[in-house]
Amino acid sequence: MSVITIDPIEKLLNAAETGKSLIKNRDVLHFTYIPNTILHRDTEQEQVTQSLIPILKQSRPSNLLVYGKPGTGKTLVVRKVLSKIQERVEKSNFPIVLVYTNSKVETTLYGLLVSFGRQLGLDEKELPPTGLAISEVFKRLLKLIEKRKINVVFVIDEIDYLTQLVIKTGKDILYQLTRANERLNQGTITLVGISNDLTFKERLDPRVISSLGEEEIVFTNYTVEQIRKILEDRIKNAFIEGAVSESALNLCSAMAGREHGDARRAIDLLRVAGEMAERDQSESVNEEHIRNAADKIEENKEVTTLRSYPLHEKLLVIAVMKSSGTSTGEIYTCYKNLCKAVGQKELTTRRVNQMLSDIELSGIITGRIVHQGIHGNTKKFKLEISPNMVKETFKSDLTFEDII
Ligand SMILES: Nc1ncnc2c1ncn2[C@@H]1O[C@H](COP(=O)(O)OP(=O)(O)OP(=O)(O)O)[C@@H](O)[C@H]1O
Ligand SMILES: [Mg+2]
Repeated sequence: MSVITIDPIEKLLNAAETGKSLIKNRDVLHFTYIPNTILHRDTEQEQVTQSLIPILKQSRPSNLLVYGKPGTGKTLVVRKVLSKIQERVEKSNFPIVLVYTNSKVETTLYGLLVSFGRQLGLDEKELPPTGLAISEVFKRLLKLIEKRKINVVFVIDEIDYLTQLVIKTGKDILYQLTRANERLNQGTITLVGISNDLTFKERLDPRVISSLGEEEIVFTNYTVEQIRKILEDRIKNAFIEGAVSESALNLCSAMAGREHGDARRAIDLLRVAGEMAERDQSESVNEEHIRNAADKIEENKEVTTLRSYPLHEKLLVIAVMKSSGTSTGEIYTCYKNLCKAVGQKELTTRRVNQMLSDIELSGIITGRIVHQGIHGNTKKFKLEISPNMVKETFKSDLTFEDII
């Protein structure tokens, strides 16, 4: 009798070929996909369009600020309005240019302005990718707008990141941008800022707020029922019929709707759950898949956060892990020993306390004040994620070889 051994790779490939695919169009679940219909956002689509309409009449619209929690459809709506206006612009000879940038993607102020310039048609010679002073870049952009007498709508998505960049470079570029019209003799520039950070205004110069926020549109949170409808629409295009059970759909909507109605989270959950269901050759996506998908997404987030920490933050997480549930004093002692073990000089207790508070914000550790009678108060910290996750994440880093 001969024993048939199946190569593990072949086995998986066979399963993929013969197995049932639940997902018929993966792209529909990708974050770049633009759905044909935007549900529950008629008012917002109207408001954004209304606010930009003057541009079609060759006058300058007010600057606009679009607010709302993550995943509430801000980027989607603004991009759709831009593309609809663009269609009209192409059919006519209006000197209008619509520019979309994202300050989280560009990562530097220079990068953001260069992206703006490229979309206005400036080439590498006219606007080199590095080397000029910001004020010079800005001057060249304005000069071009004036020369070509164009009306520009400049969208800065995730504008809150720009305020961080601005603080870093010390340049008040936002202020200059919002007031650019005063420097233009010909042509106009309208700024559209999009943000999911409702507190970012507090960090801005009041002069910037008053000109950037000439008009404001707030995107409200989706309800669980609205999320459900958005998902149903995606499922129709992304999955084969009957591939997502009713109860999975309900759970997915409820989970994404629980905090603030985040459509992105809902679609991410659905995509990951769909992949998991295909992997176990299930007939359909069930509640279990949705729950596992939520765990996986959560885990990825925490691993990414852990990896992004500088060395001393990592050491502190390990210290909290090793002395979980103990006071800052004990954690500091443990941290000091870890520093010695990896050949680092320890930071001051003050710095360490600050760092503990910062790490606490990410939810990886939590602290609570404990009253100790005549000894006063102390703060005790404990690890909120599994020690295994910490070990797994730091395992590949040789620095920590001896301490975890
Ligand atoms: N009303 C809707 N109908 C269909 N899909 C939607 C709707 N709202 C949001 N989505 C989808 O949800 C995801 C998140 O939407 P979007 O990127 O517009 O959120 P956002 O408000 O810009 O979030 P953030 O502040 O995090 O950038 C996208 O994949 C988008 O296609
Ligand atoms: Mg967005």
